[in-house]
Amino acid sequence: MGDDRPAWAQWSFLVPPGELCDWRMVLTYDAAADVGLLAELPGDPPRLAERLGLSEHAVRVVLEALAVWDVVELGDDGAYRLGAAAPGPAAAAVLRHHARSIRNWGTIADRLRGPPPAGHRGDPRGVGIMLDALAVNGRESAPAAVDACLGRVPGARHVLDLGGGHGEYALEFARRGLRVTMQDRPAVIELAGLKSTLAEAGVELFAGDFFETLPASTFDLVFCAGVVYTLGAERNVELFRRVRSLLSAGGSLAVHTFLRGTDPLATLFAVQMLGATGGDSHGEDDHRRWLTQAGYGTIEVQRLPRRPEWLVFATPVE
Ligand SMILES: C[S@@+](CC[C@H](N)C(=O)[O-])C[C@H]1O[C@@H](n2cnc3c(N)ncnc32)[C@H](O)[C@@H]1O
Repeated sequence: MGDDRPAWAQWSFLVPPGELCDWRMVLTYDAAADVGLLAELPGDPPRLAERLGLSEHAVRVVLEALAVWDVVELGDDGAYRLGAAAPGPAAAAVLRHHARSIRNWGTIADRLRGPPPAGHRGDPRGVGIMLDALAVNGRESAPAAVDACLGRVPGARHVLDLGGGHGEYALEFARRGLRVTMQDRPAVIELAGLKSTLAEAGVELFAGDFFETLPASTFDLVFCAGVVYTLGAERNVELFRRVRSLLSAGGSLAVHTFLRGTDPLATLFAVQMLGATGGDSHGEDDHRRWLTQAGYGTIEVQRLPRRPEWLVFATPVE
């Protein structure tokens, strides 16, 4: 929308203080996308409202507001159509995730009072919106993350992308010639199964909760991105223990995460996790302690070029 920065930098909630885009546009855009209004353009408010079964009054108010940001524009014929600043697919995905984050941050007072978040497992559309946005981020993050992993385990041939979600990291490993298995919850793997890119790249999909089942194989690398910060201490130790049995001799676990105390973005992300899952931006010391408890010996951290990303590498004790 008239700005050359990548979609994540422009539209995400996870940007430095002072760089956040207009929350009013984010929520209005998300509402219009949610009811199918934008997909139904061009049209005038009465006809759009009738076609979609919406309130004509509300459709007019929302379209007039979106025209303020040039997301839509009003033609001489009285019909609204997409405007010069209408977001493309990547920006739309990040914006919709941002809207969910605003609603999530609206629950922080409840977290302060104590009850844990309800979570989004029962909301498949919400999971799809999150994964579409994280795919945008993943496409930008994957090359450097995979470089770092292959620097650490240069001879790696078979990698498990654990909690792979959208599959952008799996795709990048496949581009480098590795055999790739991607595990996630059944509902997410069902979505991944619809993606021709993953099938064409030969990514093998494995459906199942990783606390209950894991692939019957060993791996030179278990890459686990965006998972550890959604969990608390006990679950992370359990996860690291379970993963250890999957690693072949000389293999390594690579945890891709945000480390507390390294970047204001990691500090702000902890609020997102507080609202969404009860997780946290855990510190390097937490990772070291949990990995040691889970039977790992050599533990190293590496900062990645994209803020606030880190890799924590760990090798099991022989
Ligand atoms: C925040 S997303 C991260 C996706 C991707 N790895 C990334 O970094 O962009 C977390 C992913 O982990 C998956 N996940 C979380 N808990 C899981 C579990 N117990 N078993 C399998 N997958 C799980 C979620 O379904 C989701 O796809």
